[in-house]
Amino acid sequence: MHIRFTPVRLAIAAAVLAIGSQAQAQNAPIKVGLMLPATGTFANLGTMIENGFKMYVAEQGGKLGGNEVQYFKVDDESDPAKAADNVNKLIKRDQVDVLVGTVHSGVALAMAKAAKESNTLLIVPNAGADVVTGPMCGKNIFRSSFSNWQPAYAMGKVAAERGHKKVMTITWNYAAGNESVKGFVEGFEAAGGKVSQQLNLPFPQVEFQALLTQIASQKPDAVYAFFAGGGAVKFVKDYAAAGLMKSAPLYGPGFLTDGTLEAQGEAAQGMYTTLHYADNLNTPRDNAFRLAFAKAYKVNADVYAVQGYDAAQMLAAGLKAAGGDIKNRDKLVAGMEAAEIDSPRGKFKLSAAHNPVQDIYLRQVKGNVNEVKGVAVKALADPAKGCKM
Ligand code: PHB
Repeated sequence: MHIRFTPVRLAIAAAVLAIGSQAQAQNAPIKVGLMLPATGTFANLGTMIENGFKMYVAEQGGKLGGNEVQYFKVDDESDPAKAADNVNKLIKRDQVDVLVGTVHSGVALAMAKAAKESNTLLIVPNAGADVVTGPMCGKNIFRSSFSNWQPAYAMGKVAAERGHKKVMTITWNYAAGNESVKGFVEGFEAAGGKVSQQLNLPFPQVEFQALLTQIASQKPDAVYAFFAGGGAVKFVKDYAAAGLMKSAPLYGPGFLTDGTLEAQGEAAQGMYTTLHYADNLNTPRDNAFRLAFAKAYKVNADVYAVQGYDAAQMLAAGLKAAGGDIKNRDKLVAGMEAAEIDSPRGKFKLSAAHNPVQDIYLRQVKGNVNEVKGVAVKALADPAKGCKM
């Protein structure tokens, strides 16, 4: 059959084509750049974040705001020296729409700097570096996790309430460890305690013996420690093996015992920590999340899985407000700012500096579970010192 292109037919064909390409533009995949550790002491944390993020996307039928999601990945090795190069692979080479990362505060600082310079959207799904939602805050910078100050400050208060007067601290000497100790000192000393000595070692070293000997000789009432991942496993075991658990109970932000209990075993039993998550919140929301996560990945969810999941939820809220258009930054940001995130940890909103305002739970280790004992501080907002939007 011979088809004649009358003007009317041509106009219809053009209109159909135009609609088609518009729909296609709207459905261009969202390019998500995952910059997380796949090796080193935080490798497992990176995996949990990635799995949490992907589980939320899978629950939405593989789409966010009606768009397919395409992943680009870089192993940041928790190495700040490689961070600028690594983040630029995602920004310049892969031209991602959004950066999701990372675990290590020093690496996150480089990511925030590169995100600011290129105006790339960044969602931090762990690293607590206070400055990210402090002096470096920005319209395009968000965090789904915590600031280092938040759980640390809460533990300072708890340690004082538990009657401790003289406490020593120990951590890795880098942004997260130092800020965590600073937050603890602030909370503890405001409540009448005194930090007698602050010990540290370079990240990610795990030769704790000399420092444990110092702790034993000083006889503090208690010790506050910031370690995470593989380093936390070894520290808690070494601390218990040194016979210190009874004479100087060990406290910390929940990273000390989150995702680590199976490996820590007997050593961690009874420890108190503070965090924005616990393993048995026993809410319908958290139970459903934990069941789905365990089914999908054959491991129990932890705080890192929650933070990855919520990073995806935050992005989805922004995309919804922007009608699925990742390029509509103003609407996207406004949507993320206004969202109430239905997190497994409990619902939260973001502060003006884009950091979660959240309850910090007091937890105690029992078996392989960080059991919730109560809320140490309700709706705690990071002070966000130096943030000007
Ligand atoms: C950090 O570097 O900010 C950091 C790393 C691991 C954690 C928590 C914070 O578990």
